[in-house]
Amino acid sequence: MATTEQREATLQEQAKRHLWLHFSRMGAYSAGADIPVIVRGEGCHVWDENGKRYFDGLSALFCVNIGHGRHDLAAAGAEQAKELGFFTNWSYAHPPAIRLAARIAELAPGDLNRVFFTSGGSEAVETMLKLARQYHKLTGHPNKTKVIAREIAYHGTSLGALSATGITALRAPFEPFTPGGCHVPNTNQYRLKPGYGAEMLADAVAERIEFEGPETVAAVVMEPVQNAGGCLTPPPGYFQRVREICDQYDVLMVSDEVICSWGRLGTWFGAQRYDYQPDIITTAKGITSAYAPLGAVITSDKVAEPFLDGTASFLHGFTFAGHPISCAVSLANIEAMEQERVLENVQANEPVFRRMLDSLRDIPIVGDVRGAGYFHAIELVKDQDTKESFDEDESEWLLREFLSGALYDAGLICRADDRGDPVLQLSPPLIAGPEHFEEIEGILRPVLEEASRRVRA
Ligand SMILES: Cc1ncc(COP(=O)(O)O)c(C=O)c1O
Repeated sequence: MATTEQREATLQEQAKRHLWLHFSRMGAYSAGADIPVIVRGEGCHVWDENGKRYFDGLSALFCVNIGHGRHDLAAAGAEQAKELGFFTNWSYAHPPAIRLAARIAELAPGDLNRVFFTSGGSEAVETMLKLARQYHKLTGHPNKTKVIAREIAYHGTSLGALSATGITALRAPFEPFTPGGCHVPNTNQYRLKPGYGAEMLADAVAERIEFEGPETVAAVVMEPVQNAGGCLTPPPGYFQRVREICDQYDVLMVSDEVICSWGRLGTWFGAQRYDYQPDIITTAKGITSAYAPLGAVITSDKVAEPFLDGTASFLHGFTFAGHPISCAVSLANIEAMEQERVLENVQANEPVFRRMLDSLRDIPIVGDVRGAGYFHAIELVKDQDTKESFDEDESEWLLREFLSGALYDAGLICRADDRGDPVLQLSPPLIAGPEHFEEIEGILRPVLEEASRRVRA
């Protein structure tokens, strides 16, 4: 029960007392540090409760693709709320979900024509895992239940999705979870094992399917560019080979595009950038530019077909999935992206963004720069020549004690991450252009130079 005293407390005090932050060491805040409270956004910038401005170099969390402060998206949601605030997709349909499903089918590659909505990315991955299992049961392969994902890949946090997530630290506190998650090497070409050529990476999928037994494997799930580990791009021909392998073993190929769709790589879907045809795409985040929560599982006609027959049904759903307000916002978001040629902006300016990041390579701790579209990472190393990485304590100091705070204080929101080797990630709103990259560089360069000096002192 809130007391008068609590009602009068500042946002900061209330946050510290009542709000449970996700993936956060809350001890730091009990010890006195302030929780960053963001109150407003406009274009590529956000403002905190003290009126300080930041460049949002992460699009909040890889999701505010069209930028902050869009009144048209807000109005689309409000108009829909007045017309029909909510109805469900369980047995019923409503116009925003119908129109959005049709719109997505137009934009998605090949015959990905059927859309199952969810409320976000983990739900999309969870749904895909269940769908893959039931698809194989309906088509006469009841033992095909396993999923192959890649090491250090993040596919969400629900217990099913966690079985695909390949980050030991995120898995360990919650084991055991759904059996059947298997992992193969990712495409970190900066750190290929000796004797391991980039052209061998896709074949690891075939080897793993053979090892598990092809009759037990339901799906392979991969991001077009793997986020965790630091924007790992595929070598040439990688996804084409994975497609062949999936066809050979009757395994569904899933492109997890929770981040890599809706223009992040300069195309509507990441599979289009790398020219492959998955059986299923999972998506979320930028689908509404994050103005409302929504996710989707987009399936091929082949995958949907057994569910359209006789008494079959996919026994799965979530109350709020395909919420009319979220679908209306998503339609407005797609329309605005088209009218304002947002994909073309990413295509035109990706080389400028990349050049700016590459120009930082003269700083001794910048080891690698990699990524695609507006989704890039800088891997930080102790020694550029040997690629020696930081140990756990050094990485803790560099990322958590120095860089995160220093960049934020200097007005740049980006991600310092050590789920693989230590990286900084940048994923700006897709409306950003050369002047914004200069602004990022103006903050990033001096902070990285200072980190480099301190590391070597
Ligand atoms: C590739 C991928 N899959 C799934 C998820 C989970 O999405 P959500 O946080 O919306 O549950 C994420 C989140 O970042 C992701 O990047």
